[in-house]
Amino acid sequence: MAREDWRDEPIHGRSVVLRRHRPENLTAFLRWYGDPEIARLTRYHVEPMSPDEIRRYFETRVLSSETLSGAIHLAAGDRLIGTTTFSQLDGSNGSVMYHITIGERDAWGRGYGTEATELMLRLAFERLGLHRVGLSVFEFNERAIRSYDKAGFRVDGRLRDAIWRDGRYWDEIIMSVLENEWRERAPGRGRGAPASLRAATPSGARAARGA
Ligand SMILES: CC(C)(COP(=O)(O)OP(=O)(O)OC[C@H]1O[C@@H](n2cnc3c(N)ncnc32)[C@H](O)[C@@H]1OP(=O)(O)O)[C@@H](O)C(=O)NCCC(=O)NCCS
Repeated sequence: MAREDWRDEPIHGRSVVLRRHRPENLTAFLRWYGDPEIARLTRYHVEPMSPDEIRRYFETRVLSSETLSGAIHLAAGDRLIGTTTFSQLDGSNGSVMYHITIGERDAWGRGYGTEATELMLRLAFERLGLHRVGLSVFEFNERAIRSYDKAGFRVDGRLRDAIWRDGRYWDEIIMSVLENEWRERAPGRGRGAPASLRAATPSGARAARGA
């Protein structure tokens, strides 16, 4: 299967569908990443990104063929509610960093984020043949930590007092989930990616895995 083929395939969950981002999704990105609460929860800088920064981010990190970014849509009605991305794909070590933002605040706390994360983990371990998915999250982002915990992430460690927010220092928490842990949570999960899909991973993983 050609690389473009599987990226264009939607990934269906119960309540959400991950689709390839389209250029017109920039309008939603400008709104989401201009939201001070999203900035507070996700950025070292407390100020939101400027519209120019958001445009650059969208073009280089979201639409780029070298990142794995998915638009999160609701299965019912197809509303676009957020975005999820794998970055720092390290094929030599089988690892990747995970990011998610549900930009529509009224869609928080309804299980959509956890489900989107579960779909991305399935992509990582079953289709891309990776070994580790890592992330970092600020200590005060309790909703995110709970969601990652439900999806199977465990705490690796903490960068103590890494961020000053709301008048005090907080830790940055490093979490990860490993392929074997992920499979143990649901026996019967498939073993490794078909060669055709491994061959479709971005260049680093492709080269390192000899596909
Ligand atoms: C983090 C995020 C992806 C989680 O997705 P979500 O759909 O809102 O989360 P879910 O509904 O799947 O799960 C949230 C869990 O946290 C719990 N929760 C919600 N608010 C909470 C709070 N303030 N403190 C503790 N737990 C909280 C919910 O009850 C739920 O747990 P439960 O199912 O055991 O009841 C989403 O909220 C988001 O994108 N937020 C803004 C951006 C962000 O913070 N991104 C992550 C950066 S690391």
